Amino acid sequence: MAIQQIKKPRGTIDYYGEEMKVFAGIREILLAEADKYGTEFVELPMFEENGLFHRTVGESSDIVTKETFDLAKRGDKDYTLRPEFTASVSRAVIENKIYTAPDMPIRLSYFGPVFRYERPQTGRLRQFNQFGVEFLDSKVDLSTTLDAFLLSLRSAEKLLGHKVKAKINFLGSFESRERYKVELKKFFEPKIECMCEDCKRRLETNPLRILDCKVPEDQEIAKGSPRVTDFLNEEDQKEFNDIKKALDALEIEYVVDSELVRGLDYYTGLVWELYDTLNDNLGAIGGGGKYASLMASIGGPDFEGIGFSLGVERLMIALSDERKQEIKKDKPLDVFIIDFKREGKANYFADKLRAEGKNVSIASFGRALGGALKMADRKGAKKVLIVDSDDTFKIKDMATRNQIEVKEEEVLSSLGE
Ligand code: HAM
Repeated sequence: MAIQQIKKPRGTIDYYGEEMKVFAGIREILLAEADKYGTEFVELPMFEENGLFHRTVGESSDIVTKETFDLAKRGDKDYTLRPEFTASVSRAVIENKIYTAPDMPIRLSYFGPVFRYERPQTGRLRQFNQFGVEFLDSKVDLSTTLDAFLLSLRSAEKLLGHKVKAKINFLGSFESRERYKVELKKFFEPKIECMCEDCKRRLETNPLRILDCKVPEDQEIAKGSPRVTDFLNEEDQKEFNDIKKALDALEIEYVVDSELVRGLDYYTGLVWELYDTLNDNLGAIGGGGKYASLMASIGGPDFEGIGFSLGVERLMIALSDERKQEIKKDKPLDVFIIDFKREGKANYFADKLRAEGKNVSIASFGRALGGALKMADRKGAKKVLIVDSDDTFKIKDMATRNQIEVKEEEVLSSLGE
C-alpha cells in the first residue's frame, strides 16, 4: 500500500527559496523602520493562558469566539496559541515590571507568527506573521499617538515603495460605546431576521461587531446605522479633532470611516486600518489603535497603550515582482569548492575560510565541472576553487571568468583577496 504523504496544515505557508529571501528582506526593512522610532524588540511566547485573550481581545470578538487555536489541557492550565501580540506585550510589560522604568513612553516592537482558525483564502491564513509596535504610558499623548500612526504608515510605504491608504475612526470610552451599542441594537433588531447567522449572534453579544460583517447584503443594511462618533463625549471629540488637525498639519492623507470598528474589543480612542491602493481586494494590510484599559483589565497599572500590527503575508502579496527583487535578502557564496580529489580537502579549505567569515559551499561528488560551475553561478559564488584529481589547485573568478593555478599553500591567501 502506498504510504500517504503528510501535507502542511491548511492556511499555513512553507517559506523556502526565493520567497524566504523576500520574507527575510521584509523583516529587515520593517524592523529597521521600527528602530528609527526608538523601539526595543521583544520576543514573547507563542502560547499564553486562554484567559489573557478572553479578557483583552474580548469574549464577543470573532477571534476569541471561534478563531483561537486552543491547546490540549496541560496540568490545570488552558493555553492557546496567540492570535495577536498586543495582549501578550501588555502581559509581559506587567509581569516583568517594565512599566516601572523611568523612560516613557515604553516603545516595544515585535515580529512573529500568530494563529487564527479562519477559513483560508488569499490573504487569510491560519498561521501568519505580524510586525508591529506597542507604545505604553500612563497617558498616551498626542505625539505618541502620531508616532505610532506614522510608523505604521511609513513602514508599509517604505516596504511597498508606494503610498498606502489610511482609514481612521474614533471609538471613545467604554461608557460611550455602551450607549452606542444600545442604539445599534435598536437599529438592527427589526432587520436581523434577514441577516447572517453571525450577525444574529453578534446582536446579542456585541452589536458593534455587525459593522465588521463581510457579507455584502449585511454591509448594505449597516450603511444606515447610527455612527459611533455621534456618541462621543466632549473630551473624546476634542481628542479626535486634535488628532485630525495634527495629521492635516503633517500633510498625512487619511479617510474618516465611521464604520471602522476593528475586530478586537480593547480599543478606546483612535483606531485605524491601512490598505494597499493597488490591491483593492486584499483587505487591510495593517491595523491598530489606542487601548486605555487593557493593562488594568489584566491586573496591571492604570496605563494606556497604542499600537498597530501589519500582516506580513498580505504585504508579501502586495509587493510587486520588481520590488521583491530589490528587497530580497540574498546571501551569495564567497567561495564554491569543486573537489575531484575526494579526500576531505574541500572541507578543510571550507572550514578555514568560514572561520574567516566567508560563506562557502561544496559541490557534491560526481558532478562534472560544467554542471558544478553552473551551480556556482546560480548560487552567486564570487570565486570557485577546483581541487583536481592530479593535486592541482585552480581558482576561478566568476565575474571575470579568469582562472589561475596556485600551490596548495597559497590557496587560502589567494581566496582571501
Ligand atoms: P488585526 O487587525 O486583527 O489587529 O491584525 C493586523 C493585521 O494582520 C491585519 O490588518 C491583516 O493585515 C493581518 N491579518 C489579520 N488576520 C489575518 C489572517 N487570517 N491571515 C493573514 N493576515 C491576517 C491586531 O492583531 C492588533 N493586535 C493590532 C494592534 C496592535 N492594535 C493595537 N496594537
